[in-house]
Amino acid sequence: MKEKTVFFCSECGCESPKWMGKCPGCGQWNTMIEEKVAPENSKNRSHNSKAAGKPKKLSEISSEQEERLKTNISELDRVLGGGAVSGSLVLVGGDPGIGKSTLLLQMCKTLDCKGEILYVSGEESVRQIKMRADRLSIKADNLSIMSETELDTICETAGKTNPAVIIIDSVQTIYDSSITSAAGSVSQVREVAHAMMRLAKEDGVTVFLVGHVTKEGAIAGPKVLEHMVDCVLYFEGERHQHHRILRAVKNRFGSTNEIGVFEMCDSGLREIFNPSEMLLSGRPQNTSGSCVICALEGTRPILAEVQALVTRSNFPAPRRMSAGIDYNRVSLLMAVLEKRIGYNLSTQDAFVNVIGGLRIDEPAADLGVTLAIASGYRGFIIPDNLLAIGEIGLTGEIRAVNSVEKRIAEGVKLGFDKIIIPSGSDKKTELLKNVEIYRVSNLHDALNIFDKK
Ligand code: TYD
Ligand code: MG
Repeated sequence: MKEKTVFFCSECGCESPKWMGKCPGCGQWNTMIEEKVAPENSKNRSHNSKAAGKPKKLSEISSEQEERLKTNISELDRVLGGGAVSGSLVLVGGDPGIGKSTLLLQMCKTLDCKGEILYVSGEESVRQIKMRADRLSIKADNLSIMSETELDTICETAGKTNPAVIIIDSVQTIYDSSITSAAGSVSQVREVAHAMMRLAKEDGVTVFLVGHVTKEGAIAGPKVLEHMVDCVLYFEGERHQHHRILRAVKNRFGSTNEIGVFEMCDSGLREIFNPSEMLLSGRPQNTSGSCVICALEGTRPILAEVQALVTRSNFPAPRRMSAGIDYNRVSLLMAVLEKRIGYNLSTQDAFVNVIGGLRIDEPAADLGVTLAIASGYRGFIIPDNLLAIGEIGLTGEIRAVNSVEKRIAEGVKLGFDKIIIPSGSDKKTELLKNVEIYRVSNLHDALNIFDKK
């Protein structure tokens, strides 16, 4: 019998019987990869049928708060929504080398877990992990390390040792021998995640899966798994910079707005309790094209510097580039400056960058970004101790944003004593001593504060 093959998208896992240049699911090009499919009667790994197939009455299900395992790394706990829910499946994604293994190994040290922890690595040998653990000074008696890539062996070991927590590093290196495709392919990655989900849901094991983000090639990325797991965390950062941002993109047990900030040092990851301070360190003084904004990441306000470089273009179509902020938003704000203020930006190249690798997707940053661009274009200097808060509408009006007080408080804490806020904001903010609050209702007024010419 001819072996049946199908095509999977390595980005989103979309399945198709024939090859396609563009994935119909996510629209990416050249991501469809051919894989053999296992015969229908492939073995069933479900080893616990007690709970299976028996629906429960809604009233019979207890609604107690789910038990949480505190990791005691406060930045990680925050992103997880107060610790990992026991019996949940957590996916930690990120570029190779960003620090996923380090984070999870470090977590073993402080994890508030009564049972055993099983750390399965398909990438490193047991000795390598031991060396890393020594470097991180981890002495956890309940931690067992295993270097294994075969799924059945892992499940068997888990069945024998009954761990409370399993860490799989990484899901792309583990393979199921009953599937013919290579480790890391979409069907393998899915099968591994399924097996782990069964362990989590049936035996109440808390499972952490590491998934490498892959730009191309035949390795399936964590996106394929996102819908299967309870919680998806992404670990981001620039390789040549030391700080790392942990972000929840999906969380069935908490908010997805929270971020955790870490710094990679010689002895592992260090938590950053005050990210604003770190993001603003080394700011240039007295220069044009720089403005500080305040973004609300979950419950926490974070200050960041936006820089804009505006120079005369040598091309008929000027270059526009943005990093850390939506390109279209920058185009929109530049169009507002052009139309409502009368700047001639169509002859100018513009580069906008949020310092520190932070990604801002909040309209409250509009005013700061626009002021940075205006300052870069006109050459006026925005005072170093000024913070700009406000959303900009298409007519150039400055609209109120949420949690203005929280943002002001963060600014004041870090020594900002000139703060621009939308005129529609709450009156309570007037009461601050030694802080100059400018209330502005449109972009014209805001620019008039600095650009007196
Ligand atoms: P790692 O956790 O292996 O990344 P991942 O599992 O995401 O692929 O992290 C590897 C990088 O971290 C490596 O470049 C070295 C650096 N690192 C430190 O700077 N300090 C440390 O204490 C450790 C353990 C790693
Ligand atoms: Mg690793």
